[in-house]
Amino acid sequence: MKKILAVFVYCLLSTAYCRADEGMWIPTLLKSLNESDMQKLGCKLTAEQIYSVNKSSLKDAVVNFGGCTGEMISDQGLLITNHHCGYGQIQSHSTIEHDYLTNGFWANEKKEELTCPGLTVSFVIRIVDVTSKVLEGVEADLSEIKRDSVVKDRMKNIEKDSVAGTHFKAMVRQFYSGNEFYLFVLEIFTDVRMVGAPPESIGNFGGDTDNWMWPRHTGDFSLFRIYSDKDNKPADYSPDNVPFKPRHFLPVSLKGVSENDFAMIFGFPGRTQEYLPSSAVEMIQKVSNPIKIKAREKRLSIWREDMNKSTEVRIQYSSKHAGVANAYKKWTGEVAGLERINGIGMKQAQEKTFLERIAKNPEWNKKYGSLLSDFSIAYIQIAPYQKATDYFSETVAAVEIIRYANGYLQLLNAKPEDLAKKLETFKTAAKSFFKDYNTLTDRKLFAAMLKMYYEEVDKVMHPEVFETIQSKHKGNFEKYADEIYERSMFASEVKVIEFLNGYTAERTKDIEKDPAYILARNVFGFYETQIKPQYTLLTDGLNKLNREYMAAQREVMTEKKYYPDANSTMRVAFGKINGYDGKDGVRFTFSTTLDGIMEKEDSTDSEFVVPKKLKELYLKKDYGQYAGKDGKVCVAFTTNSHTTGGNSGSPLIDAEGNLIGVNFDRNWEGTANDIKYNSERGRNIVLDIRYALFVIDKFAGATNLIKEMKIIQ
Ligand code: ARG
Ligand code: GLU
Repeated sequence: MKKILAVFVYCLLSTAYCRADEGMWIPTLLKSLNESDMQKLGCKLTAEQIYSVNKSSLKDAVVNFGGCTGEMISDQGLLITNHHCGYGQIQSHSTIEHDYLTNGFWANEKKEELTCPGLTVSFVIRIVDVTSKVLEGVEADLSEIKRDSVVKDRMKNIEKDSVAGTHFKAMVRQFYSGNEFYLFVLEIFTDVRMVGAPPESIGNFGGDTDNWMWPRHTGDFSLFRIYSDKDNKPADYSPDNVPFKPRHFLPVSLKGVSENDFAMIFGFPGRTQEYLPSSAVEMIQKVSNPIKIKAREKRLSIWREDMNKSTEVRIQYSSKHAGVANAYKKWTGEVAGLERINGIGMKQAQEKTFLERIAKNPEWNKKYGSLLSDFSIAYIQIAPYQKATDYFSETVAAVEIIRYANGYLQLLNAKPEDLAKKLETFKTAAKSFFKDYNTLTDRKLFAAMLKMYYEEVDKVMHPEVFETIQSKHKGNFEKYADEIYERSMFASEVKVIEFLNGYTAERTKDIEKDPAYILARNVFGFYETQIKPQYTLLTDGLNKLNREYMAAQREVMTEKKYYPDANSTMRVAFGKINGYDGKDGVRFTFSTTLDGIMEKEDSTDSEFVVPKKLKELYLKKDYGQYAGKDGKVCVAFTTNSHTTGGNSGSPLIDAEGNLIGVNFDRNWEGTANDIKYNSERGRNIVLDIRYALFVIDKFAGATNLIKEMKIIQ
């Protein structure tokens, strides 16, 4: 009894160890690690119903959608994901005449669906622990280089053997910083077509202002369809392909959500770093993130200025701007969050306990005694290279003409027998590059970014070109930009296309003499030879330390259940629908409604324009079957499941296995969770599936799509 009481008190005091909401779990391990926790929270499904090797299970409805997640919602290959995940596709089909970003797109019939070359989606067929096969006979004292090559060879062989003679693809990924390995057998579909997307004023309502924020009112969804050959197998696009029949699709629930309901999320979280030492957190919080934030602030303001002035630039840069702004805002939230929870201090406290425990155990002490001090030294050594790398990638390499011109090295290096094929690739790439490229905008960025690198990075890490700018242009970056953009062919679509069309081996000189190419090779060449080798060497050393520290934490700090860091593989997280205390005196409730959209409406601000039709439906309260018991249309809700980037588009599944929502964001307060999990204020933000259906049905009139779904009343 005393013991139970002690555990209970401990749970009350220590949120870190007893809460079920932390963790993104490997689906095959749910049975052994999580099933009872999930059921305690209200889940009525068994682990076998969630993931099964032999029978169809929930996992068969979940796909990796180009780095996001998507899920099947009909037996005809219909898939829902986020608007921001389909954004690239919606944008690439958009022109000034057919502006699907602004007006939305709906295929009334299957033959109106738009093909999306290059887009693939993949299903997970099975997951197998192959750790022992990969690590058999790999001794701890093997050199890193040796270890790396043995491990990589084995991973490759397992991949090859596991799918030989099938149409499946395989990948082996490392888990727990390289202490474990899992095989994923995948089925990859390449004929995926765009079916529907609301206008941006719904799909991205609130835009970058509301991004990472709660309360939220974004109708962040889009619809695609997977096509297969007649045998239901993946096939490249063909008009003869037919809608794919998935092994499982999610019924859609109109029952609505209540506070404290169980919720589960399936998806492909991209990257977390929960097990880093305090020295690493310090580098991220105080060096790396601030650099990236500063550089992006500048880049975004330059882009935004031109986007506000011209519709053409707005269309060209909207997708790029959203992507760059997204990470920018996340990093600022991460820094603020780490400061607020004192992430470094929390890590240091854990490290103190760790050191105390190993001090009492000679074997541990021998194995792990120097780990933390080794980390500290390694981070001091890597700091200047980290700084230069962050500045390089966020300033110089962020300039489009520099990146683009640098790519022509590949054309110069092409073997004669490959040249024709390479040229074709370059022609296609040139078209898509220039479609979204504005020379004047990029020229402004060029001057500002080069200047920032020059001013912020230590002189010994300056490529030669900075000397030329000083000597020839008296340090005037604008003048230097003028010279490059006037004289380089890479600033002009016409010139590049003409060049590629008339390309012969003699014309390589034109590339070699081009001022943007010369500059690009100078800066990239400098980075590749003077910074990257040392940076990679130090990172390799850190990888080894991370692997050992991960093993050490699992061995020494046993009060915690360990889930592996996110690595873009399939995971399950779970928790409850609930609100949170934002700041002193502020309690956020768990859901928002269409009323809130009207409250936020601002016809003078493009991020908050409400489409006329939506307003009419609101005024008439024409909500069909999609309103809740209170007569309102719920737009979004929050849960305390552990998610990260890549979980966008992930299904939120109720206790019975029905779809209740589509994940699309996290609150700002929760972004530090990627580095130090703390669930008090962190929430994932979910589109209520009833709002998506309301938009599809009532707003767009796409009843054809509603009819395909299995609706649970
Ligand atoms: N923050 C979300 C994510 O990380 C949504 C991003 C897209 N939305 C936007 N307004 N940029 O992907
Ligand atoms: N919007 C993110 C994504 O694209 C999800 C937000 C998060 O990082 O949790 O995956």
